[in-house]
Amino acid sequence: MTAEPINLMKQQVGKAAADRVVSGQVVGLGTGSTTAYAIQFIGDRLKSGEIKDIVGIPTSFQAEVLAKKYGIPLTTLDACDRIDIAIDGADEVDPKKNLIKGGGAAHTREKVVDYLAETFIIVVDSGKLVDKLGSTFLLPVEVIPMAIAPVMRALAGLGGKPELRMGVKKAGPVVTDQGNLVIDVKFESIDDPVGWEQKINNIPGVLENGLFVNCVDLVLVGEIKDGKPTVREM
Ligand code: A5P
Repeated sequence: MTAEPINLMKQQVGKAAADRVVSGQVVGLGTGSTTAYAIQFIGDRLKSGEIKDIVGIPTSFQAEVLAKKYGIPLTTLDACDRIDIAIDGADEVDPKKNLIKGGGAAHTREKVVDYLAETFIIVVDSGKLVDKLGSTFLLPVEVIPMAIAPVMRALAGLGGKPELRMGVKKAGPVVTDQGNLVIDVKFESIDDPVGWEQKINNIPGVLENGLFVNCVDLVLVGEIKDGKPTVREM
């Protein structure tokens, strides 16, 4: 598939999620290219007066920058004790709506915000749907820098093939918004996402892994049908 239809799907699905935001809500703003469209459309709706009194809680520097660009006022979890709705992307979605996230190295903050939301909406194109997590995407694990070597060994001991994520247009490893590093791990298959989320987080030095389990309320899927982008609920 060429880049053009994928971007159209992302745009439509981002808009469909943004349309679910209502006045007065605290909105968790996810990270990635699909959510970027949702942030843009929420900003457009605020600007046009269609909705009002929205505040956003960003999941990354990227979300913060986009929210400022599109005029969405921001708050923090110190100042606000609830999140009404969170909109975020994913790298893989299984039939039980469990996810792999972290392709943008933002999964730790995303998990904090998304898990707190009353309603958590995922926006993906149809290429992200898989039968089993881990089949197309490596599992991201955020690790504090001094623990990289033992965590790599522990992940290999669990049967994974760990790789330190390297920067693009930046020499050396990717450094997260929190100043940590990311290990991407290939597992043969992840049969028990609930157990593996806990098992990996129990390795000393791991801050958070990209398995999101039993937390999603709605998955909006962008598809091309008869040459046109459409959105369906999974
Ligand atoms: C960020 O770390 C990720 O969890 C993203 O939400 C995920 O990679 C989806 O991004 P795209 O919408 O760009 O595919």
